[in-house]
Amino acid sequence: MKVPSNTISSYRYTQIFNHSRRFIEGWYWAISSKQLPKGKVKPVSLLGRELAIYRDVDGELVCFDAYCPHMGAHLAEGKVEGGGLRCLFHNWKFDKKGNCIDAPCLGTGLPLELKSWDVAEKYGIVWVWVGETQAETLPFVPELENFECHSILTSRFVKNCHPNVLMINLIDAHHFNIVHNLPLEIIFRKQQLKENAIIFNNITRATEDSFLIKLIRPFYKKAVTYNMCYWYGSIGIITLGPDFLHFYIMFALRLIEDGKTEGQTILITKKRRGILGCLCNKIVLCLTKLLYDYLVSVNTQIFKRINFDLKTPTKADNSILQFIHNVENQRALRWRSWEPVDEEEERQRHKQAQILESKGEPND
Ligand code: FES
Repeated sequence: MKVPSNTISSYRYTQIFNHSRRFIEGWYWAISSKQLPKGKVKPVSLLGRELAIYRDVDGELVCFDAYCPHMGAHLAEGKVEGGGLRCLFHNWKFDKKGNCIDAPCLGTGLPLELKSWDVAEKYGIVWVWVGETQAETLPFVPELENFECHSILTSRFVKNCHPNVLMINLIDAHHFNIVHNLPLEIIFRKQQLKENAIIFNNITRATEDSFLIKLIRPFYKKAVTYNMCYWYGSIGIITLGPDFLHFYIMFALRLIEDGKTEGQTILITKKRRGILGCLCNKIVLCLTKLLYDYLVSVNTQIFKRINFDLKTPTKADNSILQFIHNVENQRALRWRSWEPVDEEEERQRHKQAQILESKGEPND
């Protein structure tokens, strides 16, 4: 459903944003690449659904729905055999397309097919395409789209709020001055990267006369670099730093039970070659880690208790409204079933919410 961008009421009663049982079709992080060596299978719980992901002996990744069609054993209890996966319980074997090619008790295969999902690898993470439409390009750092990258993962985390809410913190322009004491007004300009990806670029030049601004001004020819790129409303990539060296931090989030968030942070830099290049990569990633630690340490307390409800948007919240609008106009799927949300049903609900709001009545 396309939601109009010019009415505040469109953002109070959202159909996808901050919804505990819905999310946007897209790529979602599943597991780190290191946790899945050749010949191993792992269980992954993703957006209400159980999966078994394995790497075959040639290194190819395969992702299936977790439960065996014979008697429901979890296939991650089984073992990888060549390119296929054998269930532990009665030894049925499935090839990488999910076909049952061997049921030992019958001495033959069976016309059964496991549900499989597209799976790919980037930035040291195994990603699963959640949706029935054709998988799109994996999320990438816009400035590094055509470069090989070096990346490291920081620890995983859980937050008491929805991934969408956690994401908007990164473009909450006003909070930079209040919470982070930034002596600079941040103003974002929106840019659509792809249908499911949006960028907010800071367009503010460093003109104030605080000590910090005087210190950093020589390092920026134009605006101070602080750009946020969002994919599917749940992956956020920060680009910041002086003109001669940009730092990249990716927050890959996913919805878990009760509308909460599980996240994985990935620190990324352009790959430099040779011994010196390798050393340089490590130093840049260490500096990125320091930046990341600072960014998350200040905000952690707020996301323990927030009950997000943007009742009174101000001009400074404009980017947040644009983000919500972008989320509302993407393809929504349901928690656990991964089925598309019925658009006609949603149109009616949205209409009803607007009527209730115009009457000043609460919308349940
Ligand atoms: S439950 Fe998997 S083979 Fe029986």
